[in-house]
Amino acid sequence: MDSNCITLTRFVLAEQKKAPGATGELTQLLNSVQTAVKVISYAVRKAGITKLFGTAGETNVQGEEVKKLDVLANELFINMLKSSYTVALLISEENETVIEIETERRGKYIVAFDPLDGSSNIDCLVSIGSIFAIWKKTDNTAPTLADGLQPGNQVVAAGYALYGSATMMVLSLGSGVNGFMLDPSIGEFILTDKDMKIPQKGNIYSINEGYTHLWDDAIKEYVQNKKDPSKGKPYNARYVGSMVADVHRTIKYGGVFIYPATKASPNGKLRLLYECIPMAFIMTQAGGAASNGQIPILDIQPKTIHERSPIFLGSPDDVDEILQTIQKHKK
Ligand code: AHG
Ligand code: MN
Ligand code: MN
Repeated sequence: MDSNCITLTRFVLAEQKKAPGATGELTQLLNSVQTAVKVISYAVRKAGITKLFGTAGETNVQGEEVKKLDVLANELFINMLKSSYTVALLISEENETVIEIETERRGKYIVAFDPLDGSSNIDCLVSIGSIFAIWKKTDNTAPTLADGLQPGNQVVAAGYALYGSATMMVLSLGSGVNGFMLDPSIGEFILTDKDMKIPQKGNIYSINEGYTHLWDDAIKEYVQNKKDPSKGKPYNARYVGSMVADVHRTIKYGGVFIYPATKASPNGKLRLLYECIPMAFIMTQAGGAASNGQIPILDIQPKTIHERSPIFLGSPDDVDEILQTIQKHKK
């Protein structure tokens, strides 16, 4: 046993002490996220036994079927964050409008989250996750929608939890990325992946290839090239269908994750505030790149809380190659 292990709470506290004037509010906020994630992890592991599989019988604002675990995870995030006294506004994939926190419990942070990512993988036991990004409210006035529409370059912290063969939290407070494995025997996240860095170039492409007929020519050419032995050693194809799992693998092994615009969905599928921005923030902090095909994801000014964006993220050399292919086709 390590009598001096670095827990997630200990890590965040130490970071807080480094920041002059820090009040501990962010530490408190991240503690509430940790609690939500621990309960979700437990619920995921027990879902088959406690009858948490299947649908809740509703569709959400995106017109998608809501699963029982989506509902539970969303309630956990909302309840834990509200009672942390650290947030002013919450944005959830599962809630049509922003959630404003009452004055008595209000703090200075804004959190956008996807409580349960990869819902279609729940019932077959494939990895799923949770994603979040945190911004600061810029003034002391009552929170408005505009406070919730800040770009990724204003993010204070972002992270994801992966409920995979083990549960892991990956977090960036804006100075690198660190990974913490949940030790179920003590119920604590332990620092296992210090200062995570993505390889400069990988050999994996990750995209839903069933949509090939809906892609632009640039995407078709790029993916075709990755499979053509005359263009170099072919890449491996890997696509889980849970963004958290696909992005985590991309950080660990390198390569590229793509969810492009298609003829059916001209802005792609993934949501800017609680999928693309947090993942782009983490990817960038890990030395990778994240673009919508034109500009860095972190430079996009959000206009609505549920807006979508195409996304190309991963190893810098691989993302560069795609962006060059896109540019070439524009000429
Ligand atoms: P969610 O379960 O939160 O709705 O997100 C699902 C997302 C994302 O996790 C994944 O990368 C993508 O949907 C997969 O979409 P396709 O099935 O269209 O490939
Ligand atoms: Mn999602
Ligand atoms: Mn979701």
